[in-house]
Amino acid sequence: MEERIKLNADLCLSENIQGNGIEGEDLERWVKEGVSALNSINKNRWEKGFTQLPYQNETIEFIKSLKVCKKEWKNVVVIGIGGSSIGTSAIFKALNPINYNLFPYNKRKGPRLFVLDNPDPELCWSVLENIEKEKTIFLVISKSGETLESISYFYIILNLTRGLRENILVVTTPGKGFLFEKAKSLNLQLLSFPENVPGRYAVLSLVGLLPLYLININISAILRGARDIADLLHQKLEKNNPSILSSSILIGLFEKGKRIQVIMPYSSSLFDMGLWYCQLWAESLGKKKENFRWGQTPYPALGSIDQHSQLQLWIDGPKDKVISFWEVEKFRKDFTIPELGFKEFSYLEGKNLSLLLRTEKKATENSLAKNGVPSMTFLIPEINPPFMGQLIYLLELQTVIAGEILGVNPFDQPGVELGKKLTKTYME
Ligand code: PA5
Repeated sequence: MEERIKLNADLCLSENIQGNGIEGEDLERWVKEGVSALNSINKNRWEKGFTQLPYQNETIEFIKSLKVCKKEWKNVVVIGIGGSSIGTSAIFKALNPINYNLFPYNKRKGPRLFVLDNPDPELCWSVLENIEKEKTIFLVISKSGETLESISYFYIILNLTRGLRENILVVTTPGKGFLFEKAKSLNLQLLSFPENVPGRYAVLSLVGLLPLYLININISAILRGARDIADLLHQKLEKNNPSILSSSILIGLFEKGKRIQVIMPYSSSLFDMGLWYCQLWAESLGKKKENFRWGQTPYPALGSIDQHSQLQLWIDGPKDKVISFWEVEKFRKDFTIPELGFKEFSYLEGKNLSLLLRTEKKATENSLAKNGVPSMTFLIPEINPPFMGQLIYLLELQTVIAGEILGVNPFDQPGVELGKKLTKTYME
């Protein structure tokens, strides 16, 4: 049995945090809802596209067989927004050294990755100025094939790569949308976006795995981790299933006024994974059903930096938050604070930075608890491909269980359509 990510939610219980958390009997009630939600998800488990992804080893074989993967690239540029790119970028940042793109070529284990998502001219400029287009593969990814940001970048790239059509590959829904039509008529390499998987659940599909493979990330190990935890989570119809426990507690706490979930990894490398999760939680669960509106606002933070920025607000401000910490047990690199013999901070000397970071997290969670602010901790043994696969699947299942408990559809996003239509009208 592989080691797995664990959840400790003791500091969400009222008895441990000055009566401001969830009561034992409420927790039992919500966990019961969570168990029956997972039960009903399991009934047609394989119809929900995201549940199949960890088991699709054929996707890996398919990716490896692609012509585009046989070439040596110096840069991979993903053109895509939201679910079409956030997860890719998050895994890239988690698994590579921080500032990897700035490392010299011979110190990198693969091509650099850039994402063109925001139609910000300065972002566009900074990427296009820094790549040799001949050595760059542009992956244009959009499920609808109609997203304005991605289409605009597609135009820019088409223009830039005249005579280099082999440097563009399009991933979109076959048979419909502008991207599909254009990719076909221009004879571009074209792959299918998985039909039954919405963008924000697509990172474990070709959508995320192709760019990650191109930059030399071990995608088999990511899927192995996701599979390992999926096997366990779907069978564990009980409280100590972290997907059930966390979704039940978050909903229970929302009922008690905790309208905000702060996501706080104590790891710079995981900050973007926090952003990925924020999209997943917000877009999947911010929903209305008749007169009922549900939505616990997720917002990203970073330990220990936000102790010096947001923590004051969490402690003395409105009691409307629950903090989800992500703690890394073993860092890939460590530094010892040198022993220089200064009396004032002698307790730091000879200690590792990782110990300082983890101690700060402990101090923060305890000071929050003493002030009646609930928190839970996901314990991640190490940042590596299998644990990233585990984290992704665990949180996807958590979100889908929450959707099932609430009776909302976690796979659609009707609320974002109007903004898209209006942008089109105004641009016209
Ligand atoms: O999760 C989602 O469905 C969204 O975030 C989409 O990924 C995003 O809007 C981009 O859409 P598309 O892939 O159609 O370009």
